[in-house]
Amino acid sequence: MESQKSNVVILGIETSCDETSAAVLLNGRDLRSHVISSQITTHQKYGGVVPEIASREHSLHFQPVVQQALNEAKLTFRDLSAIAVTYGPGLVGSLLVGVSGAKAMAYAAGVPLIGINHLEAHIYANFLEHQDLKFPLLALLVSGGHTHLILFEAHGQYTVLGHTRDDAAGEALDKVARTLGLGYPGGPQIQRIAQEGDAQAFNFPRAMLEPGSLDFSFSGMKSAVLNTLNSARMRGETLSVPDIAASFQQAVVDVLVRKALLAIKETRVKTLLLAGGVAANRLLRETLDHKLAEKGVCLVYPSPIFCTDNGAMIATAGYYHYLKGDFAPWTLNAVPGLGLV
Ligand code: KG4
Ligand code: ZN
Repeated sequence: MESQKSNVVILGIETSCDETSAAVLLNGRDLRSHVISSQITTHQKYGGVVPEIASREHSLHFQPVVQQALNEAKLTFRDLSAIAVTYGPGLVGSLLVGVSGAKAMAYAAGVPLIGINHLEAHIYANFLEHQDLKFPLLALLVSGGHTHLILFEAHGQYTVLGHTRDDAAGEALDKVARTLGLGYPGGPQIQRIAQEGDAQAFNFPRAMLEPGSLDFSFSGMKSAVLNTLNSARMRGETLSVPDIAASFQQAVVDVLVRKALLAIKETRVKTLLLAGGVAANRLLRETLDHKLAEKGVCLVYPSPIFCTDNGAMIATAGYYHYLKGDFAPWTLNAVPGLGLV
């Protein structure tokens, strides 16, 4: 590539859970390559991610994935401005593969290292395809491990308005899917089978907590589904899996939408960003699209490939850290329980 010096070229690396991914991003907007090696088929037979297997898989795939990302971008390490890597939250063994690898590469190439918070990166996935976003923004981050409503007032400036008190939305979808025998990861399976079901068939509870609260609670909603299934089993009845899936998906989406609308009312922010794996959910996107249009609020979400874990979102967040000169020391370590603020 020509005149690298005036360009900002970030290699982004993600290994926090079960995807080994690397991306090369030019000037924060031009995605030159994006490689994702998913371990889903490996973990599927266990019904969820097995941490020890995940870190071994990352060790196997890390170097080939990074090399492929550089090859596809037609670059070498010397062309990079910086290497950005997820350092938390996530599985410690998985994070360590990415952090150690990125450190070694950055040191050898003589380029800065940038430590990226995985939660922040999910939000920044929106900046990849929508560069004209204006602060203040509101973000609904819904992933397998987190459900947060966040006031995002400037780059790097977050206030958590509400978060889940127990299960994350994705976690609840995964657990219900597992009980229904739908496999892992559960969110996409629930979405798929719900298309054949009736969302009104079961009236599962919508946990809203105290009036005005922006916190979430999905554990009781999940238990209501499990209790319904157990009671039917004891009576010798078989319930329709598509109806259960559709009704539970509807309940989860209803809660997410109602809380998002409440946060919009309180903050008067005019743009809502969706982020995290559950942001790929079609019902959630369509319901919010419709409700927010009525209120003159703009809804922004990443393409599905940038909703679930990926290296492009790490490179995008890395670009904004790079502009601020926000680099990590060589002592950067994995922080499995890292929060957003
Ligand atoms: O962001 P992500 O890839 O990983 C974490 O950081 O947790 O999110 C994974 C979660 C899983 O719970 C998965 O079931 C859910 O996102 N998910 C979905 C969809 N695609 C992924 N949930 C609902 N509908 C989808 N289409
Ligand atoms: Zn994630």
